[in-house]
Amino acid sequence: MAYDVLVVGSANADLTVRVERRPGAGETVLGTDLVESAGGKGANQAAAAARLGARTALLAKVGDDAFGTLLLDGQREAGTELRHVLVEKGARTGTAMIVVGPDGDNSIVVSPGANARLSPADVTAAREVVAASAVLSLQLEIPPATVRAAVAVAREAGTRVVLNPSPTPESLDPELLAAADPLVVNEHEAKQLSGLADGTPADRARALLGRGARSVVVTLGGEGALALAAGESEPTAVRGPQVRAVDTTGAGDAFTGALAGRLARGSSLVEAVRLAVRVGAASVTRPGAQPSYPTMDELPD
Ligand code: RIB
Ligand code: NA
Repeated sequence: MAYDVLVVGSANADLTVRVERRPGAGETVLGTDLVESAGGKGANQAAAAARLGARTALLAKVGDDAFGTLLLDGQREAGTELRHVLVEKGARTGTAMIVVGPDGDNSIVVSPGANARLSPADVTAAREVVAASAVLSLQLEIPPATVRAAVAVAREAGTRVVLNPSPTPESLDPELLAAADPLVVNEHEAKQLSGLADGTPADRARALLGRGARSVVVTLGGEGALALAAGESEPTAVRGPQVRAVDTTGAGDAFTGALAGRLARGSSLVEAVRLAVRVGAASVTRPGAQPSYPTMDELPD
């Protein structure tokens, strides 16, 4: 099977509560009713790409529990190919405890569950699927060895790699950096991984290119994003539409999934970023991660 986008990554049930004010250590606050929805950075990227019409598959691992079913239903609804989602007997599906504050900003704790069992062998067993896909989209919520195995298979096959290094490690494996085309980072991740404590997002994008990334995209929240392609010294700034943020959970994943889908269809980096900022912005106007992702038709101009 040939796909535009193959996502290798995590799938989590998101358990979200909204609060007026975050609790400090030792403090209890009351929040809203609990909402359960499909999330996880990998599953989110896949859902975003599929919703927009890209032929998308997800290689991930869930448990044989109710949360696993929630994740499979979410992907089915988005239109993702499910045959590579592995269901592990006796494992718990990854779970994310999410607190959303009044401004739509969030704090997340992830319990990896079955995501921790997605192994390098699972990836090498899918070698042909990686090879037959235009873009391999990755994040870092699965074991590092599994991400490295995916990158190795993609390199051998000549499959383009899109990498969102989130959650952000102290430093990024040079092999991963060298494969990233683009490396998609937010401002915090750009600062951490470029090692530039001072400097503008453009400086950090240049530094990341200098460190070996093939191309770099820095997302700037409501300000849009910067795109820096190979060989360029000046990033292109792409402005995002102004929206009122209700819930920013998974906005970066929506951005990256949209970007991957567009690149797979042959768009330039800047063209793909133009679509991705619109998709990311649309996603923050609705609650949750996957339930908030737009189709092409739902996307405001
Ligand atoms: O990036 C947002 C995602 O992070 C959430 O869906 C949650 O599951 C965590 O993986
Ligand atoms: Na959202």
